Parts: sequence; C-alpha cells; structure tokens
Amino acid sequence: MTLEIRPLAEPLGAHVYGWEPGVPLDDEERASLVRALRRYSVLVLRGHRTPSDTELVSFAAGFGELIKGSEWFRDAGDLPEILPVTNAVGEDGIPLGTGGSGSLEWHADYSYSSRPAKESFLEALELPDDPPRTYFCSQYTALESLPADLADRLRGLRAYHSITEYVDPNDPRAKPEMRRLTSDFDAKRRRDEAAGIERPEIPEAEHPVVMRHPESGRELVYVSKGITRHILGMPREESNALLKELHQHATREEGVYAHAWEVGDLVMFDALGTMHRRDAWRSGGRRSMRQLSTLC
Ligand SMILES: [Fe+2]
Repeated sequence: MTLEIRPLAEPLGAHVYGWEPGVPLDDEERASLVRALRRYSVLVLRGHRTPSDTELVSFAAGFGELIKGSEWFRDAGDLPEILPVTNAVGEDGIPLGTGGSGSLEWHADYSYSSRPAKESFLEALELPDDPPRTYFCSQYTALESLPADLADRLRGLRAYHSITEYVDPNDPRAKPEMRRLTSDFDAKRRRDEAAGIERPEIPEAEHPVVMRHPESGRELVYVSKGITRHILGMPREESNALLKELHQHATREEGVYAHAWEVGDLVMFDALGTMHRRDAWRSGGRRSMRQLSTLC
C-alpha cells in the first residue's frame, strides 16, 4: 500500500490517505506512521473503506498491546478492545456505549490507569447533522514553552488521576451535571449483576507530572482538567492553582487543532503527549464511534 501523509496547516495533525484495511502494514509502512505520529501527534486516516471490527483491532494492535477499556465501562462486545463511544440507547433504555451528547472535558485517555494509553484510535461510524468537533493540544509543547524553573519544579511532582466521580453516584465529588452519566453507569452495573457478569472496577492511578514517552523518550506534561484531581503532597488550594495554570497554558487557542469529523475518519493520536476534548451537540442526533488504545 502507498501511504500518503499530508501535514495540516495547523499546530498539530496530518492527513493520511491510502490505508488499506485488512492488509497488514509492512515494517516500513508502520515506521512511517510512527514517525508521522511523533512529528504531528494527530493522524487523520481518511478515504479508506470502513474496516471490520477485526481489521480495526489488528491495525491498532500493530502499535502495541491493546487496552480492554470496554470492560471497565461495561460495554464490552465480542472484541473488548473496541470501546463503543456513542449516545445511542438500546431497547432496554441503557446506552449502547459511553458518551452521551454532552461536552467532554480535556483529558488524556486512561490516565487513571497505572498503564495509561500510549496511542488512541477514534473512528467515526455515524455522525449527527451537527457533529461536535474534537480538539487536540500538545503536552510536549506545553512543557517546552513553560518557564524553565517551573518545568524543573514539575519534574519532582506526582499527581492523582481518577474518574470514579463520573461513574459512582455515591461519590461525594459527583456534580449534579454528571448525574445522567452516573445513572447510566449504574444501570449497566445492575444489568451486569443480574446477568452474573463480573467486570473489573475502573482504576485510579498516580503518575509523575512530567513523564517521558516510553518509545521516543520525549518529555511531556501529564495532567488534565478532566481527570487529574490533585498534586500529591501539596495543599489543596496550591494544587488547584497549579493545575489550573498548567491547564490554561496547555490549551491556549493558538496551540489547538480542532478536528471536524467526516464519517469514516480514523483519527490516530499520541494519547500520552496530547490532550483532547469534545464539544456537546445540540441535536442529540446519533453519533457512533469506535475507540481503541494501546497500553504504555
Ligand atoms: Fe478520550
């Protein structure tokens, strides 16, 4: 296959044409995608036929061991490596995936896991008439553009990552606007219990505030507004102020790429070195995505 990589005139991102689902990548093709990912952080594969679930899993597995995140979210199908991200609801009134049609705050995928995501793959199967954009920013650039003394200070810090407040209605931190998410998750938990299906609990994790990408060795800031709760050993107010400062710095508008989805787009992104967020969409029309991630 001939992969054509076209950089975007954006802070991040390149289009990739020529992917052939079902045809294994050879070493050079895989290496060219990894090189492009290091350089552009976000690759939009476009113009290919829709891969089957198996083809999508085998493509993503070429970059690392895959997370079975759908088990944590109680949405596992035949291939638990595929997490359905959708606002569609089943006949029993229970959502067919994670998501809803609300906005999603800046985050790094699975940062609440001791082995977080290295790359993520998000593919649009079906979009509403007013599809929400997904925004990406670089945590490498964020670190490199911080004052040197602040960056040095961050290198000695660790932070706590958790999303349990999104899934546990009894979590005292759960905010009223999360009630729909927590009640959806609760319905899935009760459904699984009734069917005798056991699922692992969603983990929580601590990570250094400055991490290195395990393959490139490049340093990045690893905190997000959506998932990082506090800096360990730091008074709460000071921790909140530092996290806010880092968040505002990383998400400055001039460093953000806003992806306008087309049906069929497969966006492969550096899940450690970028954060992403999603807009809400008003129509509530159906949006169905398949998401996969490799493990660090
Ligand atoms: Fe995500």
